[in-house]
Amino acid sequence: MSFTTDPSSLPPAGADALVHSRRVAEHIAERMTAADGWLSFAEYMQLALYAPGLGYYSAGARKFGAAGDFVTAPMISPLFARCCARRFIDWLDLQSAREILEFGPGTGQFAADALGLLSGSGSPLRRYRLLEVSADLRERQQQTLASTASGDVELDWLDSLPNDFAGVVFANEILDALPCERFVVRGGELWRLGVGLASGAVSAARFEWRMRPANGARVDDDDFRMIAARLFPNEGVNEKRSVVTNLPEGYCGEWHPSLTAWFAALAAAMDRGTVLIVDYGLPRSQLLHPQRMTGSLRCHYRHQAHGDPFLHPGLCDITAWVDFTAVAEAAMQAGFQISGFTTQAGFLLGAGIDRELAAATTGLEPADPRHIALARGARTLLLPGEMGEAVKCMLLTRDAASGTPSAPLLDSAFSLQDLRASLWG
Ligand SMILES: C[S@@+](CC[C@H](N)C(=O)[O-])C[C@H]1O[C@@H](n2cnc3c(N)ncnc32)[C@H](O)[C@@H]1O
Repeated sequence: MSFTTDPSSLPPAGADALVHSRRVAEHIAERMTAADGWLSFAEYMQLALYAPGLGYYSAGARKFGAAGDFVTAPMISPLFARCCARRFIDWLDLQSAREILEFGPGTGQFAADALGLLSGSGSPLRRYRLLEVSADLRERQQQTLASTASGDVELDWLDSLPNDFAGVVFANEILDALPCERFVVRGGELWRLGVGLASGAVSAARFEWRMRPANGARVDDDDFRMIAARLFPNEGVNEKRSVVTNLPEGYCGEWHPSLTAWFAALAAAMDRGTVLIVDYGLPRSQLLHPQRMTGSLRCHYRHQAHGDPFLHPGLCDITAWVDFTAVAEAAMQAGFQISGFTTQAGFLLGAGIDRELAAATTGLEPADPRHIALARGARTLLLPGEMGEAVKCMLLTRDAASGTPSAPLLDSAFSLQDLRASLWG
């Protein structure tokens, strides 16, 4: 997807869409006014993406696919789901478990393709659970799965985490959609960046970045200092209690404040099992590298990426790359073991994408459009310049009763390229 710094080059929004976006912006502005004119960026992002009936994921925006704003791996190729499903069978067998829980299943395409393999005879799977926060997407998933033969497998939509879950948990592009916070370097100090109403804006609901607090004066921000100390353990604190840094002036970065709570809730819901996290991201030392001056905040609108989260709130997706060191820290604190970390290309090659491609194209001429589409999809998933390197896969295991992992220490899909050491480098 191409990135533009010029919002005027984006496709124009329709009149109805603009009316909707204005309602979203007014809702956010009301919250901001009630909070003395300043919201943290995570609060802003939560409202822009998930405000009930208004946010990007909670209202009717098309979101996925050619008529939407972005595509994800399950939509690029069925080979992605098939590779994952093959590993799920082994992990379920190892744990004598029978359930899969998918977070944020999007269009339901992953579940449909995975069930093609998992509902066959001999599969240990008995129940496929879908945890979806958006009513609009749940309806779409139900439509997608209505025509899927699920055999003996029961489909079960959830509003919240279950109790005593045992099995495989799958989350593709979920963590990068969780609300993030942002910081900036000014005068050699780290500052939290939040959101205020734009001064002099024609519309009452235009937003702009504001260092905390709204008037720019420094206040004690102990919460931020604690986070900064974790993100940059070698930086110091000066006599004014500001975090000082050697990062270049103007440097921006992001962090996801809800990771600890997210993994604690998952651990509390899980007796034993395996968690596969797939997301855009890097180990911390690479993500918060001095050369990555502008951070990784990305907005998606009609298949163009841009960097302005205040443009058309409610019509654009907003994401930030995941700090996989923070994911590992949060997961370990919650009682998970880090059983694998690799690139998407490493995972898919280790999981046998070449065999899946050969099987799916058997009997098709190379010039057959279905053959071409499958080969092209595999390239997009694997190539370093596409998703192969930018997307990472992490395998977590947990057994609450014994405290020991119930999956082998290094799964075959993670052994081709074991990157776990890079998390702590
Ligand atoms: C970028 S989409 C990915 C969808 C899908 N997994 C895929 O690969 O196509 C992000 C999804 O995360 C969901 N989501 C966000 N926060 C969530 C949460 N706390 N629990 C479950 N799903 C969540 C959104 O509703 C949305 O469906």
